[in-house]
Amino acid sequence: MPSHARTTQVAIIGAGPAGLLLGALLGREGIHHVVVEKHSAAHVLARVRAGILEPATVALMRELGAGERLAREGLPHEGLFLSVAGQRHHIDLQALAGRHVTVYGQTELTRDLMAQREAAGWPTVYEAGDVSLAGLADKPCIRFGEAGRPVELQADWVAGCDGFHGVSRASIPPEKLQTFERSYPFGWLGVLADTPPVAAELVYAQHDRGFALCSMRSPTRSRCYVQIAQGDSIEDWPDNRFWDELASRLDPASAAALRPAPALEKSIAPLRSFVAEPMRWGRLLLAGDAAHIVPPTGAKGLNLAASDARQLAGALIEHYRERSDAGLDSYSERALRGVWRAERFSWWMTRLLHRFPEELAFEQRLQRAELDQLLASRAAQTLLAENYVGLRG
Ligand code: FAD
Ligand code: DHB
Repeated sequence: MPSHARTTQVAIIGAGPAGLLLGALLGREGIHHVVVEKHSAAHVLARVRAGILEPATVALMRELGAGERLAREGLPHEGLFLSVAGQRHHIDLQALAGRHVTVYGQTELTRDLMAQREAAGWPTVYEAGDVSLAGLADKPCIRFGEAGRPVELQADWVAGCDGFHGVSRASIPPEKLQTFERSYPFGWLGVLADTPPVAAELVYAQHDRGFALCSMRSPTRSRCYVQIAQGDSIEDWPDNRFWDELASRLDPASAAALRPAPALEKSIAPLRSFVAEPMRWGRLLLAGDAAHIVPPTGAKGLNLAASDARQLAGALIEHYRERSDAGLDSYSERALRGVWRAERFSWWMTRLLHRFPEELAFEQRLQRAELDQLLASRAAQTLLAENYVGLRG
C-alpha cells in the first residue's frame, strides 16, 4: 500500500447538513468515518441557504449535543402569513398542527456541527481535490488530493452527501438509476440585509407580479426572496430594484414595514424538483440533495437531508453493532417515502404561490380558487400546517 493510503468504516462525501449530521450520528457511536469536502470550511459557511427547521431537525441537533446555540438563538415561529393579492392572512401552525418551526440559518447549523467535529477530533478533509469514487459494488475506494498529495481512502461504505452537482450520484451507472424531474421556468433571487423583518413571522406572498417571501435570521436581519425570470442575472437586480419589486408584491401592512438596506449577500437559486431512485447502489448510499431536490417554497430541503442522515445512520449503526443489514437493505425504500411526500408538498406550494409565465387565464383562475379555498377552510389549512411542520411516521 502506498504511504498515503488510509482506511475508514464510512467515507462521507460532502460537508453540508447531510454529511455533517451523518458524521455526528456515527461519531457519537464510535463508528470511524471521514468527511471529504471539496471546498474550504469558510466557503461552505458562506453559502446562505435554508432558514426553517422542522421540530424533528431541532430534536436531532439536541440529541447530538449540538443544539445549545440553536436553543438559545433559534426563533420559534408558531405561524406564518400568506399574503394573497394584497391581503395578509395568518396560518396558525401551532393551533392547526400542534407544533411550530424554528428559524435558524443553515450556516449556523453547519457552524455548530463543524465546531463539534473539531472538538471531538473526527477527521474532516476540506479542499479535497478531484474526488473520485471506485469499487462501489464491493470494495469502495475514494481518491482525492490533500494539500497536493494524492490520497486513497478505503472504506466499508460510502455516504454520498455531496449535493445535487456532486460525484456520488454521477458514479452510479445510469442504467441503475431512475430519475424523476421537473424544472420551473423561473428562479428565486435572495437578499440578506441588516433590516428588521416586516412581520413577526414569515410572509409568503402570492401576487400577479410573482411570488415573494420575507424571511429572517434574527430580529435585526432579514432574508427576502422574489421570483425572477429564468435567465435574469444578479446584475439585472441592483438593490433598489429588488426592494421596489418586493414591496410591490406585498400586502400594504408588510410593504409599509419594509426598510430597504444594502444587500450583505445576493444570490439566485433555480427551482427544480428531482428524485433519483434507488438511493443505494452497492456500497454507496445517497443522502440529501445528492438524491433529491425540492423547490425551496416549502422549506423542506435541509429537513429532508436531516431525515436521510438519521435513517442512514440508524442503518449503519445496526450494521456495525448488530451485524444486521436489514436497515441498509430497506434504507432507500424508507427514505423515499418521506422524500416523495416532501416533493408533493413543495411542488404544490410552488404551484399555488408562483406566477407561471406560460399559464393561461384558466389556470390562473384555478390557482385563485384554490387559494380562496385554502383561506376559507380550516381543513385545507391543517393540511398545509401538517406538511410545513413536517409529517410524522
Ligand atoms: P449541500 O448543502 O449541497 O452539501 C453538499 C456538500 O458537498 C457541499 O458542501 C459541497 O461543497 C460538497 N461537494 C460537492 N461536490 C463534491 C465533491 N465532488 N467532493 C466532495 N464534496 C463535494 N431547505 C430547508 O429545509 N428549509 C429552507 O428554508 C430552505 N431554503 C432554501 C433556500 C435557498 C435559496 C436554497 C438554494 C436552498 C434552500 N433549502 C432549504 C435547501 C437546502 O439548503 C438544501 O436542501 C441543503 O443544503 C441540502 O443539504 P446537503 O447536505 O444534502 O447538500
Ligand atoms: C427561507 C427559505 C425558504 O425556502 C423558505 O420556504 C422559508 C425560509 C429562508 O431562507 O429563511
